[in-house]
Amino acid sequence: MEKYYHITTYGCQMNVHESEKIAGILSDLGYIACDDMESADIVVFNTCCIRENAENHAYGNIGMLKKLKAVKKDMIIAVGGCLPQQIGKADLLHKKFPYVDIIFGTHNLNKLKEYILKKQQQKKAVIQIEESEGAICEEDRPLRTSYPNAWINITYGCNNFCSYCIVPYVRGRERSRRSEHIFAEAKSLIADGYKEITLLGQNVNSYGNGTDDLTFPQLLEKIANLDGKFRLRFMTSHPKDFSEELSKVIARNDKICNNVHLPVQSGSDSVLKAMNRRYTRKDYLEKIELLKKHVPDCAITTDLIVGFPNETEQDFLDTMSLVKEVGFSSAFTFVYSRRDGTVAAKMDGQIPEEVSKDRIMRLVELVNENTRSQSLKYVGKTVEILCEDYDKKKDMYLGRDEYGRMAYFKSDKNVIGEFIKVKINSANGISLVGDIIKG
Ligand code: 5AD
Ligand code: SF4
Repeated sequence: MEKYYHITTYGCQMNVHESEKIAGILSDLGYIACDDMESADIVVFNTCCIRENAENHAYGNIGMLKKLKAVKKDMIIAVGGCLPQQIGKADLLHKKFPYVDIIFGTHNLNKLKEYILKKQQQKKAVIQIEESEGAICEEDRPLRTSYPNAWINITYGCNNFCSYCIVPYVRGRERSRRSEHIFAEAKSLIADGYKEITLLGQNVNSYGNGTDDLTFPQLLEKIANLDGKFRLRFMTSHPKDFSEELSKVIARNDKICNNVHLPVQSGSDSVLKAMNRRYTRKDYLEKIELLKKHVPDCAITTDLIVGFPNETEQDFLDTMSLVKEVGFSSAFTFVYSRRDGTVAAKMDGQIPEEVSKDRIMRLVELVNENTRSQSLKYVGKTVEILCEDYDKKKDMYLGRDEYGRMAYFKSDKNVIGEFIKVKINSANGISLVGDIIKG
């Protein structure tokens, strides 16, 4: 009889890729993917705890499974990822949701197979959290779900300890994979027909750091030199480690997209200092200038936080003015979320919710305005889109250009995985709509 799995993923691309690794483990055990939890024999929640709302979202979804589990007693429910990795959270999860069968963390995802087999032998829940990160696992066999894009981890963990951020506590110290493993993975993905590779790390710029002879720009260029038509992206870059050498490597390699994600978080020096970001507004703007000197058409995206403890109206206005000055092609905007265990959680001067709400609304409006006006510049132009999906509702295919801008277009045949020339006819906010140019 066929057995089915369903995975719900919360959070970032790192988590999405980890869900592909979980899918690899489940398919190895003979499970097949299914779209709904009701049909699944095993349900996995791959959680995120970077902000409170991601955490609450997971709690809500796990809670909703209680009824289903009561009628489908043999169904296995597993909760993994960042949420249970926080100190004390695995026990809390077990108390709150006693019907959850397996609880595991970020450091032992690769042992999920063992935990499932164990659970099938015993009634008791399997709760396994490893406190430290251990050696890098090179045995993962991710079941990739994002063709023609593929993610490759190059570093794990983070050493930066930005004062608001839980990541260093739940993902451990930064460690880099050996470049020969990364290179071999990239080579085999390209040979398998993947058309876009994204190198992943919390701070890709500090790649190597004693474990490998290659620096990040060298690694990037080595992969870009592989044969075949493909795009190369990377995320995330910490501004303090973003180098001129990297800008030059982007400039001289066509396969590396002219699109850099460089989270600034705030435009105010006092907030940046309290965030422990280790750069000033001026330093950040200098990095942008350096990047633009070598890659004038580079699309820069960023992350922004409002409502950090003690953020004044002037600090917030400094963020607004920085957004205007840089002209980001798009930005992720967040309201500061207090995370237990971080330095900022203990700070006085937490900002009232209504103040943060007002600031985020003003910021989102500005960011959207920027994005809209940049999208409008596309109208009438022809761009090369890597088609990545089909939208059933719109009956249109979609994909991005090298700058990361999404475009929709009609096609009478399936063109997913192909580079397509599209003439843009209209822009609606973040995305573009156009027609395929034949020939
Ligand atoms: N509150 C709000 N945003 C946060 N981020 C990380 N931690 C927090 C937090 N506690 C944001 C940062 C980071 C992105 C991945 O998530 O902007 O760059
Ligand atoms: Fe968090 Fe800062 Fe590390 Fe990014 S660099 S993961 S924001 S601690």
